[in-house]
Amino acid sequence: MSRVRTLEDYHTDYRHSVEDPDAFWAACAEEFTWHKKWDSVRGGEFSPAGASTWFAGAELNITENCLDRHLAQRGNKLAIIFEPNDPRTRHLRLTYRELHTQVCQMANVLKKNGVRKGDRVVLYLPMIPQLAIAVLACARVGAVHGVVFAGFSAHAIADRVNDAQAEFIITADALERGAKQIPVKSVVDEALALCPSVRRVLVVEHTGWPVDMREGRDAWLHDELVGVEKTCPAEPMAAEDPLFILYTSGSTGKPKGVVHSQAGYMVWADYTFRNVFQVEENDVYWCTADIGWVTGHTYGLYGPLLAGGTTLLFEGVPTFPSAGRFWEVIDKHHVTIFYTAPTAIRSLMATPIDNVLSYSLSSLRVLGSVGEPINEEAWHWYHQHVGKGRCPIVDTWWQTETGGIMISALAGITPSVPARAGLPLPGVQPVLLAQDGSEIEGNDQEGYLAIKGSWPGVIRTTWGDHERCQQTYFTPYPGYYFTGDGARRDENGLYRIIGRVDDVINVSGHRFGTAEIENAINQSEYVIESAVVGYPHDVKGQGIYAYVICAGGVPTTDIDVQRAEASIIEAVVAEIGRIAKPDKIQLVSGLPKTRSGKIMRRILRKVAEGETQALGDTTTLLDPLVVDEIVAGRK
Ligand code: WT7
Repeated sequence: MSRVRTLEDYHTDYRHSVEDPDAFWAACAEEFTWHKKWDSVRGGEFSPAGASTWFAGAELNITENCLDRHLAQRGNKLAIIFEPNDPRTRHLRLTYRELHTQVCQMANVLKKNGVRKGDRVVLYLPMIPQLAIAVLACARVGAVHGVVFAGFSAHAIADRVNDAQAEFIITADALERGAKQIPVKSVVDEALALCPSVRRVLVVEHTGWPVDMREGRDAWLHDELVGVEKTCPAEPMAAEDPLFILYTSGSTGKPKGVVHSQAGYMVWADYTFRNVFQVEENDVYWCTADIGWVTGHTYGLYGPLLAGGTTLLFEGVPTFPSAGRFWEVIDKHHVTIFYTAPTAIRSLMATPIDNVLSYSLSSLRVLGSVGEPINEEAWHWYHQHVGKGRCPIVDTWWQTETGGIMISALAGITPSVPARAGLPLPGVQPVLLAQDGSEIEGNDQEGYLAIKGSWPGVIRTTWGDHERCQQTYFTPYPGYYFTGDGARRDENGLYRIIGRVDDVINVSGHRFGTAEIENAINQSEYVIESAVVGYPHDVKGQGIYAYVICAGGVPTTDIDVQRAEASIIEAVVAEIGRIAKPDKIQLVSGLPKTRSGKIMRRILRKVAEGETQALGDTTTLLDPLVVDEIVAGRK
């Protein structure tokens, strides 16, 4: 039932999932350990007052399903393989039994430190086993984990900690990234100056980097672990209790805390993981995404562990010590399923081909892609040089809000065509909507991508602001979940994702709101106003192009230009982090605005894309001349 093995199965299951979703998902859910079974399978479907519920009335703990459930059969099987940043550092392997013990011990440390069911715990950690263990330990005691990617700045941490009203943080001394060590605890310290709610900070000793420990607030994890029990009962959670918060950018300035709950997310993570990747018992599976993003949550951690699989965690980067590092790791650990992002593929494509050809890669069986549309060139390179022409590629479309993969090939079963995500998974009913909200029927059509009907992994709320969740996803087209993407259904009914239709930029598979970056830029003392747009970037997919008006007009000397630009970049790094640094900055005397004061982003986008010939009608602008200046000064 819960495993599709042939194309015929796919069609049968798809039909069943749409005609009788309750029966379909109940059958999938039967495989898990429950403290109490559900009263109803689906409820509250996209209603204006509330979100969906799944398996309401049930009680469970997801960690029993990730760990305890496997101990009898798979106690000595590897759960986690950890490959450190530096290949000269020894890798680490944890069996299910060892992982179970370590999660229980960490859970006991959390309890000892006052963490209770429902408390929010923010994790700001490198990609090391302790991050996975901490996530699971939170879930074990019923605390809500909020992982913040360890590339975000102190301000970004503070915003998230305050929004979540978190009282506990787990962090590390520093992280290793390529040849560098980057301090982590000191960033947390800076953030905590702005976070009155935080009572306790647990610190993992990872690199030995010196840190300040604040008396009464900070404790070393290794000290706390001394003598704690090796078992810890799993807290029974209601199906709809929150499991985690993960912040993501939208079209307003403030990131929102996407909330996923226990039972639906669990069933969805497991179902999508096993079916999309067609996982078998002896697979070694590697998802390169950091656990700080949803891909790392669902397919680096929960999905593989729910399935009793072996998942590889990698602390490093694709280019250190050489651009063959990914391929070296695949050969070293006999990785069979590899899941990465188009931006990583494109950056490696740009290096000498020997970097990949000198590895055998013979263990590989299935390849995956996620984060943005994979362009045909990258698809073919991935297929030919990594998969040696024999591994199906799954181009998986989904979002932080969908909890798991929505549209994708099932490896080797449903069609995998370059630049197409493909067919929807069972349980997913994609539609294309016209501007007026009507459904566009038939193939070879384009529209706004929306999802009809609920699925187990759908976003439940945005933390602390349910109204925002309703407004963003369920109000634009009543009865549908609105994705914010545009899509095309090709002549064969396969979906091709075109990209965002809102003010969101996708940089290297990570989402940033233009308003969010503008807010950051405007923190610079040099800046009066700014407008940010995305433009096509060879490696990142989209780059960030910022038009900025400086106080005192456009600087005239090189040194003043440099100062202004440095200050703008510094502001973005401080407010969001290095990952949101503008690629291009153009200092301008004005922005193209309508008479009502609205910035005409369409024009700015065209200029950034280099399409300066076809700017369309500019006569309605307050000051049409500013467009000539912008075109002339294009970066
Ligand atoms: C947005 C979601 C969920 C995975 C990581 C990103 C874009 C994601 C694909 C794909 C085309 C894709 C969409 C989506 N996107 N995967 N396979 N093909 N576009 O998660 O940060 O929540 O971003 O990423 O635009 O809306 P996210």
